[in-house]
Amino acid sequence: MARFLLLLLALLLLLAGGSATNISYDHRAIIIGGQRRILISGCLHYPRASPQMWPALIRNAKEGGLDMIDTYVFWDGHEPSPGIYNFQGRYDLIRFLKLVHQAGLYVNLRIGPYVCAEWNFGGFPAWLLKLPGIQFRTHNRAFEDKMEEFVRKIVDMVKSEQLFASQGGPVLFSQIENEYGNVQGSYGTNGKTYMLWAARMAKDLETGVPWIMCKQPDAPDYIINTCNGYYCDGWKPNSRDKPAMWTENWSGWYQLWGEAAPYRTVEDVAFAVARFFQRGGVAQNYYMVRMLHDLEQHLLMPERCQYFGGTNFGRTSGGPFITTSYDYDAPLDEFGMLRQPKWGHLKELHAALKLCETALTSNDPLYYTLGRMQEMVQAHVYSDGSLEANFSNLATPCAAFLANIDTSSASVKFGGNVYNLPPWSVSILPDCRNVVFNTAQVSAQTSVTKMVAVQKPSLIEEVSGSYTPGLVEQLAWEWFQEPVGGSGINKILAHALLEQISTTNDSTDYLWYSTRFEISDQELKGGDPVLVITSMRDMVHIFVNGEFAGSTSTLKSGGLYARVQQPIHLKAGVNHLAILSATVGLQNYGAHLETHGAGITGSVWIQGLSTGTRNLTSALWLHQVGLNGEHDAITWSSTTSLPFFQPLVWYKANFNIPDGDDPVAIHLGSMGKGQAWVNGHSLGRFWPAITAPSTGCSDRCDYRGTYYSSKCLSGCGLPSQEWYHVPREWLVNEKNTLVLLEEIGGNVSGVSFASRVVDRVCAQVSEYSLPPVAQFSSLPELGLSCSPGQFISSIFFASFGNPKGRCGAFQKGSCHALESETIVEKACIGRQSCSFEIFWKNFGTDPCPGKAKTLAVEAACTEAVDSAPTLVRT
Ligand SMILES: *[C@@H]1O[C@H](CO)[C@@H](O)[C@H](O)[C@H]1NC(C)=O
Ligand SMILES: *[C@@H]1O[C@H](CO)[C@@H](O)[C@H](O)[C@H]1NC(C)=O
Ligand SMILES: *[C@@H]1O[C@H](CO)[C@@H](O)[C@H](O)[C@H]1NC(C)=O
Ligand SMILES: *[C@@H]1O[C@H](CO)[C@@H](O)[C@H](O)[C@H]1NC(C)=O
Ligand SMILES: *[C@@H]1O[C@H](CO)[C@@H](O)[C@H](O)[C@H]1NC(C)=O
Ligand SMILES: *[C@@H]1O[C@H](CO)[C@@H](O)[C@H](O)[C@H]1NC(C)=O
Repeated sequence: MARFLLLLLALLLLLAGGSATNISYDHRAIIIGGQRRILISGCLHYPRASPQMWPALIRNAKEGGLDMIDTYVFWDGHEPSPGIYNFQGRYDLIRFLKLVHQAGLYVNLRIGPYVCAEWNFGGFPAWLLKLPGIQFRTHNRAFEDKMEEFVRKIVDMVKSEQLFASQGGPVLFSQIENEYGNVQGSYGTNGKTYMLWAARMAKDLETGVPWIMCKQPDAPDYIINTCNGYYCDGWKPNSRDKPAMWTENWSGWYQLWGEAAPYRTVEDVAFAVARFFQRGGVAQNYYMVRMLHDLEQHLLMPERCQYFGGTNFGRTSGGPFITTSYDYDAPLDEFGMLRQPKWGHLKELHAALKLCETALTSNDPLYYTLGRMQEMVQAHVYSDGSLEANFSNLATPCAAFLANIDTSSASVKFGGNVYNLPPWSVSILPDCRNVVFNTAQVSAQTSVTKMVAVQKPSLIEEVSGSYTPGLVEQLAWEWFQEPVGGSGINKILAHALLEQISTTNDSTDYLWYSTRFEISDQELKGGDPVLVITSMRDMVHIFVNGEFAGSTSTLKSGGLYARVQQPIHLKAGVNHLAILSATVGLQNYGAHLETHGAGITGSVWIQGLSTGTRNLTSALWLHQVGLNGEHDAITWSSTTSLPFFQPLVWYKANFNIPDGDDPVAIHLGSMGKGQAWVNGHSLGRFWPAITAPSTGCSDRCDYRGTYYSSKCLSGCGLPSQEWYHVPREWLVNEKNTLVLLEEIGGNVSGVSFASRVVDRVCAQVSEYSLPPVAQFSSLPELGLSCSPGQFISSIFFASFGNPKGRCGAFQKGSCHALESETIVEKACIGRQSCSFEIFWKNFGTDPCPGKAKTLAVEAACTEAVDSAPTLVRT
């Protein structure tokens, strides 16, 4: 094995302090200070949460069994203008790295600086476009110089804070570029030259920790190339000297405006992760992952697995058209709360994998097929290699993974024992004999959250991800009507239609194009004409003589650019045409991003005049960058009547915040499209006016079988996002200010604030469930926990016997221990959490001797107010 070792750092020896860690790897392990490790990593992008949220997110990631946090570094956020850096607030990278370090976790620092990440322009600052001759992500001085400058800046900062693991810090890996292998071919030989330049440039920065390139099959020897895939089992790096590491594959998983929300069962997520380690994985990262599942048939299987997604605040969402919520159905939800049972089940999986670490890191697995169905039940055994085919003589260490990749259950003999494997599941045997975990057996509790309206008294309930707003007090609104066409702020006149990004420098979503033209009576004889824009992106709102005529977006056109044909009404004489072009997140994926452009990228004509077509392309156009409201050119009013369903209205209201520490959200489901700010912080874009298709959703998702991104959807027929996260950090105790910009018309009466809390918790565990991994070989256990600051206030359901149904709809079966409720109430009411060992003696008399029994409980969580709860029933 020694010959595989890649020694990274003679340099380390020179570092004083003794805290420096020697990091190396071979194809079976990441070797940290001499210890052979497998690593479980989760993505947590620091600017997608507020700094106040970071400590709890990191703590919950650690408690969930993660070893490493994976984050991109966001160039556009850190260098908003050339040479002007921002490392404050959500962009305080060093503070974030230090917090991760304090928590005892490692970091995979994916510097990029192209990051994709569903982030605006893939992380590129728009000012790069101003550099003459620049081409992104290929061999040219303009780009390479700026890229190197930024990467060097980040590496120097991390180094000077002693944050690389080689210096005793948490940064174990860094990534250069991102999925370049996917686009390299589009750049000809310059692509390869650039890739090799980037690799060499990174290496020469001498971080002392390994560099990674994901999806880069031709990465040079000193770089680890990693797998980005739906299921990464079966994937191999390009050299036996390298460990199999799984980073991510971004495509097909994020949510666009107007789409239903994809979700993935925890059984299947756990299956994919377990399969990766079963088949030789060393480091895995929760992100969206997809890959070739290399069964004989090479099925393509999608999945998503961000550990915490968070929020695309401000104008950071990419796309175009990526939603503001970046929740991802992740183990930690957008608000930072545990998503249960996902978080808890994966925690068990991680604990089971850790029990296998010594065996996993010592050798390649031996592979066996079991059972009658060829290849459908697979065993992978990690041992010292001397394992006998008949298992009479198990070596130590020894760990085995038994996978049933069939959609029905299987019973197989392995090492002389019989194992029952649920469909589409992996059992983990850290000693090659005893199953400690099965991916399809979920004992972790389910938590049901709700939104509690701030303006008392009603509740807004979340039911399977959808929400129904309750009655709330009205906010007192002021408003301002944005002038159509702008009012000439920073006006740019041209006999042409200017490309949007180079005109606005992406400082705003908006660019007005307005012009005046004369039409005679004669020309209007043919009836109402049609305005044609031959090519535009991402969206235009068209106004004629101050009146809104219509909007077109490229969202559902299937292409990057769309043609607009808008019937308009003209009058004889001078007409005023004003087109508001709006970007909705700059493209984040693909080659040649710098060539895309936005706004009106074609010609503008008026068709259907009795004299034919009037070409306005070279008319005198007045361009205004941004809206008056964005330039603070606003005169608020509250005397005229409050505008409803009017385009281009700014609204403002003051509000007080909900008490406590629960996450806060604003309901914008009644609005059209626009942006929202609280106390000057942008919450992001909203667009509830566009709804998801009404079909394709399922209430229940069959975890079995190949996953694909449209397999399990929720929110059909509803806006993609009605609730928007308002970080507590941005709120003050009294008199917060909300500002909304409405582009197309909405109903501000439906706007309200709520806090998000856990409402109910449920769990269901049987006598034959596996005991918690950490308590190897004890009894199965049912645990219930409300959030910190809450207590269990009542038990809706408790039955030890053969209860039926699921959370929210449990029912007693024919077998029921009469004392179930009393026993559960006694143990749980008034407490934040409670747990039960599943054994009949704990529930009085055996309600049905000889039969397998299950305990199912559903309990209510309530916010602990000032005094201790006194709700204990007798
Ligand atoms: C680092 O670890 C490797 C493998 O464990 C070992 O061979 C090497 O000598 C170590 N290097 C230093 C500088 O300690
Ligand atoms: C994601 O992975 C699949 C399968 O490996 C591949 O075909 C696809 O091109 C990848 N997409 C991206 C964006 O990397
Ligand atoms: C199992 O393998 C061992 C070692 O190869 C052998 O001695 C033993 O007879 C085998 N047992 C059976 C039941 O095949
Ligand atoms: C965009 O950038 C150019 C060059 O850096 C500058 O001259 C121009 O004023 C900027 N425009 C806006 C709207 O920021
Ligand atoms: C309109 O004018 C533009 C530029 O002046 C030209 O490129 C375009 O072809 C013209 N379109 C028509 C339909 O005449
Ligand atoms: C606007 O929203 C309020 C509150 O949800 C609702 O009562 C009212 O009917 C809505 N108005 C319209 C025209 O939809």
